[in-house]
This record gives sequence, C-alpha cells and structure tokens, in this order.
Amino acid sequence: MELTLEGRRIVLGIGAGIAAYKAPQLVRRLTERGAAVRVVLSSSAAQFVTPLSLQAVSGLPVSTDLLDPAAEAAMGHIELARWADLILIAPATANLLARLRGGMADDLLTTLVLASRATVAVAPAMNQQMWAHPATLDNVNALADRGVRVLGPAAGQQACGDEGPGRMLEPDQLADCAEHLCYGSEPRLRGLRVVISAGPTFEDLDPVRFLGNRSSGKMGFALAGAAVAHGAEVTLVAGPVALSTPAGVNRVDVRSAEQMHNAVHEAAASGCDLYIGAAAVADFKPSAYALNKLKKSGDEGMTLALAQNPDILASVAALENGPFTVGFAAETEALEQHARSKLERKKVHMLAANRVGRPGCGFDADSNALTVYDANGETTLEQQSKVSLAHRLLVLVADAMDGSTRSESR
Ligand code: C5P
Repeated sequence: MELTLEGRRIVLGIGAGIAAYKAPQLVRRLTERGAAVRVVLSSSAAQFVTPLSLQAVSGLPVSTDLLDPAAEAAMGHIELARWADLILIAPATANLLARLRGGMADDLLTTLVLASRATVAVAPAMNQQMWAHPATLDNVNALADRGVRVLGPAAGQQACGDEGPGRMLEPDQLADCAEHLCYGSEPRLRGLRVVISAGPTFEDLDPVRFLGNRSSGKMGFALAGAAVAHGAEVTLVAGPVALSTPAGVNRVDVRSAEQMHNAVHEAAASGCDLYIGAAAVADFKPSAYALNKLKKSGDEGMTLALAQNPDILASVAALENGPFTVGFAAETEALEQHARSKLERKKVHMLAANRVGRPGCGFDADSNALTVYDANGETTLEQQSKVSLAHRLLVLVADAMDGSTRSESR
C-alpha cells in the first residue's frame, strides 16, 4: 500500500449512528496509507463502537469527553484542533449536522470543529427520509456554503430496512476522499462541469477476441476523484478497467472507442466546461466484426484489416463554444516535439505528456511524471503518486482556465 497519507494528521469524529460500526475499518484504511488518526467520539457514539477497539486500531489515545481531565492533560482540545490537517466526521448523523450548522460547542467534536482551521469533511449517514428532509438538506447546504466538504451519502439498502440515499460511503471510498482533501484544500473547480475519459478501449474482432492496450485507468480515475474534491460536477467515461468509482462521480462505462466517442459527446452536449481526455483510445478497430469465432486456416498467417477510429479529443476541441480541453500523450522518445505537435494538431488548450518505459511510471503504475505544455510554455511535474499528480495538474488547469476567461473578457 502506497503511503499516500504519510505525515497527514486526521481527527476522525464519529457520530452516534449505526454506520459507526465501520469506523475501526476506516481507521485502518487511513493508517495503512500513513496517516496519524486521533479518534473523537461522544458517549452515545460509544454505544455503537468501543473506544478500546478504536484505540487498538489507531494506536493513539481516543478522546470521548470535553471535560476529561486526563485527556486534557495529554493533549488539550485546542491543541488537538490545531494538530489536525483534516477533521473527518463519519458517520455524520442528522443531529450532528444540525449542531454543526448551528455552531454548537456542547461536546468535544463540535468544539474542535469551531476551534480548528483544518479542512472539515462530513460523511452523512441516516435514514433516507431523514436525509431527504428539508431541514437536513438545508443544514448540509449551509455547511457546504461554509466550506465543509460533504462526502456522499451513497444510496442502497439501509439498516432500518429502507432503500435510498443515506448510506455512509464505504471506508475505502472515504480514505480516497481523505487523500484528495489533504491535497486540495481550496476547491479550484467549484461549480464547473467536468468530463473525463479514462482507461483503454477494447475493439472487438469476434465474440472472444479484441484489440486492447495496457492502460489501467488509474490516472483518469485519480483526476475524477481530485476534480470532485475541487468542487466540480464530474462525469467519468470509463473504458474496461478494474477500478471502483471515486465517490461523487457519475460514471458511464463503455468498451469501444466509438462508444467512448458517443458517451463523451453526449456528456459534453448536456453542458461541459472542461474535458480531460486521459483515455488510451485505440486509433484503429477491426474493419469488420466476425459474428462467429475466427478460425485458423492451415499454416497460413492472417492479415487483419483495420479502420480508423474517431479522434475524441480533437472532435471535442473542435466543438463551437466547446469546453477547455486537456489531452494526454504517452511517448517513448522526442517527448516535447511529439507533445507540441499534438497540442497544435488537435487544437487542445493543454497537453500532459509522459515518457513511458521509466520504472514505476506510466501504464498500470501508481505513480507518474508529467510535462505539461500549453500556449504559454511548459511545466514539469516530477514523479509522484497519480493522486498527487492529479491535484497538481488540476491546479495548472484551473490557473489556465482563469487566464483564458480573463483574456476573453478583455
Ligand atoms: O494516441 P495519442 O497520443 O494521439 O493520444 C493523445 C490524446 O488524444 C489523448 O488525450 C487521448 O485520450 C486522445 N485520443 C482521442 N481519440 C483517439 C486517439 C487519442 O481522444 N482516437
């Protein structure tokens, strides 16, 4: 497991809801990525999950009470508020959300939130009717306007037997969100509609064979999660990959380049401010699809006829009043020359190029290094995790988008 949260200090606040039973798992997911986690829970939350379990998995003292002299002597509540890089409240019950909205400071957790300058994120978990109640939605909107990040909830089966939105995000998803929030504390893409394509495309030859490539989709998925953390509304058009959907992302699964082309244009037509083409789209597909499995004929070889696929990125860049466009390029040599020529040929605003074949970088790896080209020059982003890289790239994109709105309005 990559230590993507190494050195990060997280206060995990646990509300008194049934989803609290997942809290020890969440602590593990955070600590195994390198974070130091200090758990804060109220006495009612301790009815659902014990401080002893949480202490055992976090390896740090657990705080339960605002007026606990022993805990205050070890680390006072103001000190704890200053210690945190991120305060993650999971589960956040309807009651807790209302108290946070009201600025209450009647227990340790709410007091910490008021006393801290750290990013605050809440993962709501409650009955679907309680979630849909105007009072709850109003509280959540007020908190979001104040800069609190709202993670989820997910929809599905609930402990009470109901079905609908109100389930807490899973520990893995919350750990991914925590990672993104630790990078992007300022939401640079707030309110923007972002479409991202990711992964390979598979071009079917016959019912059992296809032409594909080694793209894992990790970079595009990291960008989707990062864009959500930056406040964007994200549609992710994904080729065949084995990755789970980042929380808050609207995912559309496709297989071939043609399907990806159609899905991207459909998403772009319903409103898109930024398109990032991070997919490894097959340039060619078999000219014909064989309805039955192709057979060998004797010892002879076989020549496959290929037809060209549409260039998705270039077609989005050519749209009238189209979005800001960002492309990717994987090159084995002459990086700058190929990247600059792609930037001009496809008429995109920005192109992120990486040299494939370096150890630990590129396809299927967890890290990468990029050189980003645009009309104003180039920026090199050194080798780092794809999540960290996604954030750095989005900041460059946000800067460039700000610049292009300024020059348009001149
Ligand atoms: O394959 P190539 O190096 O030209 O890819 C550069 C960029 O163009 C990538 O962002 C890729 O997603 C995009 N592309 C595309 N449609 C294609 C081929 C590439 O959108 N048919």
